[in-house]
Amino acid sequence: MERPITPQQITEQVLASFDATPDPRRRELMKAFVSHLHAFVTEVELTEEEWAGAIGALTATGHLTDDKRQEFILWSDTLGVSMLVDSIANAVPSGATESTVLGPFYVADSPVREHGADMAEQEAGVPAWVTGRVLDLEGRPLAGAELDVWQNGDNRLYAVQDPDAPDEHLRGRYRTDAEGRFAFQAVRPVPYTIPDDGPVGEMLRASGRHPWRPAHIHVVIRAPGHRSVTTHIFDAASKHLDGDTVFAVKPSLVREFRGRAADDPDRPPGVEVPWVSLELDLVLAPGNGGAPVDRGRTH
Ligand code: BEZ
Ligand code: FE
Repeated sequence: MERPITPQQITEQVLASFDATPDPRRRELMKAFVSHLHAFVTEVELTEEEWAGAIGALTATGHLTDDKRQEFILWSDTLGVSMLVDSIANAVPSGATESTVLGPFYVADSPVREHGADMAEQEAGVPAWVTGRVLDLEGRPLAGAELDVWQNGDNRLYAVQDPDAPDEHLRGRYRTDAEGRFAFQAVRPVPYTIPDDGPVGEMLRASGRHPWRPAHIHVVIRAPGHRSVTTHIFDAASKHLDGDTVFAVKPSLVREFRGRAADDPDRPPGVEVPWVSLELDLVLAPGNGGAPVDRGRTH
């Protein structure tokens, strides 16, 4: 009498079906993926209802995703996969500025702005004067480096999410001068929630998790002959630094914004209200540059 097929035999059959995959890396990926997926199903003894629920969530994810909203990336972010892939791909030598997630609100080709220019196209919160230098690992200034900056305003929104904001609001590209210095006027960023009206939001609620991210300014730093870094500068006074829903906080990226009075003589041009200042050095490792991958929007 034939014995019933066991779960282990099913896994072995599926693994063997990839043995002849011509590309070795593809073969490795598919076999490891199947092996871990089957181990997960076996370990938790996944029920038919649970598997149908997972397929329902993936189907809803697909239906929600288009060129404006990217629910798959939100899964990657909230399950920590984005940060894991980033940390494997972008390990930097000690002393270099660390990377973190690009996020879904990056827009390529931001306007090139003058040294010190304001990137707020309309009222957007407490003015922030951000200055510093881009340096190499030996502390030498990097002239002509580019800072590609974007952030939210005090309504929590990035311009790409905000129908009432001009397209180029709160984003810009700045170049360092001969001494590696940069300066730009921004606003103090505020904490915000990632889009949580889809299956990812449902997962967060069912898990007792919140959708909040701590306040930050995004920046990509590029300089010829150096490795580009995609990162954030987090506000040390922000809520949620110890509970970022996408796990993107690294201690080296947390900085103090200094409160300044409206009549402070160092105030940036046009500022007549209390403001904040932030001074920071950004350090690049040697290597090749490269543009961030615009993975699509999530708004
Ligand atoms: C962001 O920082 O813009 C972001 C990152 C991950 C998910 C949602 C937003
Ligand atoms: Fe962000």
